[in-house]
Amino acid sequence: MCIYCNLVLVVLVVALNSQAHAGRIIGGHESAEHSRPYMVYVKGYDVNDEPFTCGGFLVREDFVMTAAHCKAKFYYVCFGMNRLDDNRTKCSSVKKDFQHKDYNNKTLTNDIMLLKLSNRAAKKIKRMKPIAMADKADNSPKMCLVIGWGITDNGKTSSKLMEVNVTLTDDEMCTEEKAFYSKGKKGPAGGDSGGPLVCENGKAYGVISGNLEDLTKYTKIPEYMDWIKEVMQPKSALD
Ligand SMILES: *[C@@H]1O[C@H](CO)[C@@H](O)[C@H](O)[C@H]1NC(C)=O
Ligand SMILES: *[C@@H]1O[C@H](CO)[C@@H](O)[C@H](O)[C@H]1NC(C)=O
Ligand SMILES: *[C@@H]1O[C@H](CO)[C@@H](O)[C@H](O)[C@H]1NC(C)=O
Repeated sequence: MCIYCNLVLVVLVVALNSQAHAGRIIGGHESAEHSRPYMVYVKGYDVNDEPFTCGGFLVREDFVMTAAHCKAKFYYVCFGMNRLDDNRTKCSSVKKDFQHKDYNNKTLTNDIMLLKLSNRAAKKIKRMKPIAMADKADNSPKMCLVIGWGITDNGKTSSKLMEVNVTLTDDEMCTEEKAFYSKGKKGPAGGDSGGPLVCENGKAYGVISGNLEDLTKYTKIPEYMDWIKEVMQPKSALD
């Protein structure tokens, strides 16, 4: 049964409502230059034109994956650099967002979203490369990497891309939840929301969703392959 996970989720919602877009890579180190060529910085503007930031990752030259709770009225997505002040940074607008239709902002279930870029900007930048997504045929991961520009140990957001390894919990109890969990002081939070959980085989297994203290939840990508394929088909019916 999933009682433990359901309890966790109730608590998670409380935390995310109060710090939806704040967060941190705690205990991490700077990513090596160009080592994460799929990383995307997502800047969103909410209905009140207030800016917020999330992470994201390129899954095809024209699609960025992020969290559903990063939905904005208007976006800029930027890529091609580790440091946000790098003058080689390129940004693109978003043609259309595809928030998962069953996303629930109270329980944060199905916290996954795809952004279709206005042009194939990423194709023009040699430093950019999409990351492969894990599907159900891939092994269950244990040790993974989380990456982002969220708040670090000093309490401030980082202008440098940071990363840290996390160990996923043995989630026998959580198999009904379409989520992975990690525990521990090291790891991400909301400001890193939307960034990838990259595991042993170099594939993206999860989307950083949210946390409470030392428990972090990730949307489990292999559970969403049908939806992803539907949205990303070459001539999307949803487009
Ligand atoms: C970008 O920054 C680098 C290093 O600071 C500098 O050498 C280069 O001239 C800059 N390029 C542009 C187009 O501003
Ligand atoms: C959450 O979703 C409900 C129903 O779709 C919507 O009415 C509400 O405005 C949403 N709340 C936030 C904070 O987005
Ligand atoms: C961190 O996790 C990545 C992805 O699973 C793995 O390849 C790497 O070996 C890990 N690094 C350490 C120091 O454990």
